[in-house]
Amino acid sequence: LRSRAQRISSQLGGQKLKHWEVPKRDWFPPSITGNRDFAECKINCGWNEDGKGPSTWDHFCHNFADDWIADGSNGDVAADSYHLYREDVRLLKEMGMDAYRFSISWPRILPNGTLGDINEKGIDYYNNLIDLLIDNGIEPYVTLFHWDTPQALVEDYGGFLDKRIIKDYTDFAGLCFERFGDRPGLKCPDPNGNSIKEPYLVGHNILLAHAETVHLYNRFHRGEKGHIGLALNVMGSVPYGSTFLDEQAQERCMDYNLGWYLEPVVRGDYPHSMRSLVRDRLPHFKEKEQEKLVGSYDMIGINFYSSRFSKHVDMTPKFSPVLNTDDVCATEEIIGPDGNTIGPATGNAWVYMYPNGLKDILMVMKKKYGNPPVYITENGMGDIDKGDLSMEAALDDHTRLDYLQRHIAVLKDSIDCGVNVRGHFSWSLLDNFEWSSGYTERFGIVYVDRENGCKRTMKRSAKWLREFNGAAKRTG
Ligand code: NOJ
Repeated sequence: LRSRAQRISSQLGGQKLKHWEVPKRDWFPPSITGNRDFAECKINCGWNEDGKGPSTWDHFCHNFADDWIADGSNGDVAADSYHLYREDVRLLKEMGMDAYRFSISWPRILPNGTLGDINEKGIDYYNNLIDLLIDNGIEPYVTLFHWDTPQALVEDYGGFLDKRIIKDYTDFAGLCFERFGDRPGLKCPDPNGNSIKEPYLVGHNILLAHAETVHLYNRFHRGEKGHIGLALNVMGSVPYGSTFLDEQAQERCMDYNLGWYLEPVVRGDYPHSMRSLVRDRLPHFKEKEQEKLVGSYDMIGINFYSSRFSKHVDMTPKFSPVLNTDDVCATEEIIGPDGNTIGPATGNAWVYMYPNGLKDILMVMKKKYGNPPVYITENGMGDIDKGDLSMEAALDDHTRLDYLQRHIAVLKDSIDCGVNVRGHFSWSLLDNFEWSSGYTERFGIVYVDRENGCKRTMKRSAKWLREFNGAAKRTG
């Protein structure tokens, strides 16, 4: 099962799978290329509207949702921001938000993944969104890649498994700079990873594509230069026991969670622990590549949700969906040695509230990685909704409010300790299509009623953030 989970992870561009994202059945599709053609579309369904091409996730859902997506759903409509973006900007404005992070769907503007076929309607959509944000005093923070590789490139050469992706990705990024880059903003590819050989290759190609993209941006940006960098999804970790072995395990987990992508852009190579453990499966950077990588960021994004106990293991093969235990020689435990979790449960299976985990990461960034400017590009929790969560209960999201308040307080504390934090983004504005969890986890500070045209309603947390932003503006 592990190798199957890993294979699909690589094919999805190195995206990590959560622990419940192992197959529901003991079979696995031979490949996410080929398979069923899917032309069917409902009304109000942005996934293939106005010339958008399919992404790997469109293709994956359309072929394998029954076995891989918790509720058998897909992202065809999701929160329907394609049609409702004006309402989203209105809500952001009402909440006093001064920045909005969203991603550009590569196959929406390049349906086949390459410059041969530019979808002007897709470009118009993002230009309209960006202009509307700016008109409302909201700064666009743009993610160039949030896992939706054009399916066409997977069919052509295997997507991020092949170095050809670097040119196609850079072409896509260049097009974004040309068409959107005259207005300052921030662009962050979203790398991540899983295990054995292919994910290291995928991660390597993502890093090279990132470095090329940053150099392209620095050479060719139009108008005022924005900030460019990369966003890392980082699980915090604390040693399981107070033994030296567990302390080392914690450092290795941090190397895998943070250093895998951060160290190459700071120092030009992967962490030493990865080099010694992954050995010949970990690719090498050429000297010229290293030169491009080092310093290829103005900022680093951190997506933070929760932390785990890191426990040393002696190379005993044991399935870990987040990190490959064989390579890290560690497991990430939810339950500590005293039988307790690291913090209170939030409702969903994997987010336990441990705000200090965020401070731990920021302190590592300060001490080990030169204290770069950091944005918390994601922070939040999901409410489980398997069709049994009433709208009333979802709107009264006091656990999320508590979660956000505690994390914002820890950020203040971290800033007082000298870390270079510049901003915080709640994940998410809207209840979203949560990958293999489908619509069973509601992450929004704004409720999306999918039964009623995706109507938006602010939750308690959104109303508190509105007060918070208002107070912050009043007091400067
Ligand atoms: C990180 C991912 O970037 C985002 O897409 C996802 O929804 C959140 N984690 C929550 O799982």
